[in-house]
Amino acid sequence: MNYITYKENALTCEDIPLKELAEEYGTPLYVYSKNQITENYRSLRGALGETNHLVCYALKANANHSILKLLAAEGAGADVVSVGELHLALKAGFTQDKIVFAGVGKREDEIEYALKQNIFSFNVESVAELHTISRAALRMGKKTRIALRINPDIDAQSHPYITTGLQSTKFGIEASKAFEVFQYAASLSSLELVGIHTHIGSQITKVEPFVATANYVVGLIEKLRSAGINLTHIDFGGGFGVPYAGVVSHEALPQGEEADMSVPSPAEFLAAVLPILQSADCSIWIEPGRSIIANAGVLITRVISVKENSTKKFVIIDSGMNDLLRPSLYQAYHQIVPLSIDTYEQEKVDIVGPICESSDFFAHDRMLAKTNAGDYLAVLTTGAYGFVLSSNYNGRPRPAEILVNRDRVRIIRPRQTLEDLV
Ligand code: LLP
Repeated sequence: MNYITYKENALTCEDIPLKELAEEYGTPLYVYSKNQITENYRSLRGALGETNHLVCYALKANANHSILKLLAAEGAGADVVSVGELHLALKAGFTQDKIVFAGVGKREDEIEYALKQNIFSFNVESVAELHTISRAALRMGKKTRIALRINPDIDAQSHPYITTGLQSTKFGIEASKAFEVFQYAASLSSLELVGIHTHIGSQITKVEPFVATANYVVGLIEKLRSAGINLTHIDFGGGFGVPYAGVVSHEALPQGEEADMSVPSPAEFLAAVLPILQSADCSIWIEPGRSIIANAGVLITRVISVKENSTKKFVIIDSGMNDLLRPSLYQAYHQIVPLSIDTYEQEKVDIVGPICESSDFFAHDRMLAKTNAGDYLAVLTTGAYGFVLSSNYNGRPRPAEILVNRDRVRIIRPRQTLEDLV
């Protein structure tokens, strides 16, 4: 079910018309639907069924404390990539034995901190990191669980910046060395080698790369078993793509924009890989971020002015690349719609922010309902990698964040003030 939809002519989040929030709390404003988050999380769990599993939420997608508390209370685990994220996860109530620590450049102090916290495991990215963890564990008189992150050299067919399973990327241990590194890791007494980790990329919209990865993982586990190394744990990473086009519909919106039906649901992704992974008889953990939080969030913005030259019309809004970096960084598409439908008239425009860079855009040559200064717009599917990637660039305070639960509204992060910039 979609919790951000039009009711009549008003875009609403659960029971709240978003215009009311824009007027009360100002813009730019991130708004999240609580029930969308829990529904997304529960449907992932449901898709894993009876399998011995854990859904570890990838904090990097959205690390707001209230959202983390919500997911921790649901029983989720946490995928963290820094001591900062580990701290946030613990503060929000994720239990240590449900936390995995990934990341291609873990510092020694971060490893020590994680060892002290007795997290479930480190997802190890290289032989050098094996040594650092092993040394730290010996120093601290601890034995720690590890999984090796293997780079299977499989193309996730996503944007190159978020493709992580190819040999040309910095991630993981290369597939051709995997067997010998597993053998080596198994020989280190301070480490308990429990599993294999893969994460081939993000916003993956086809099942084939996941299926190829699952086959690779199961094949390697079998090979290791015949050599006497018995893994019990698969961490299959995250990366399930979500639709960004045609997310909300209304007859007044541009009709050319069809709903992106080609993106499989998380349940469909899992249905394709689970039978393969289950044959390895291991616990199966996943690390989704986007598929839990992306469609639960919306960025509300206000039109500052509309400006026309002889080639283009620009809708200048009060959000910039400092609030939402995805269009500038990945040329990412986000559907942009009015908070209230007041006209059926449309025009082709560039939707741009106020920042002093031409990369500060939200959409080029986009059909949009005719808008005027003062109108409100919603940039949809911005719950993941939205606020977390925000900055104070150009002296702009970060936006507020709001959580909606049916007809209840809670500020879960106040808007920064000018004093916060000092
Ligand atoms: N696990 C690991 C090891 C990861 O590196 C990531 C994401 C995830 C899990 C979660 O992936 P997800 O389910 O959210 O796709 N800023 C980019 C996305 C970067 C993803 C980085 N790693 C964007 O806005 O599209």
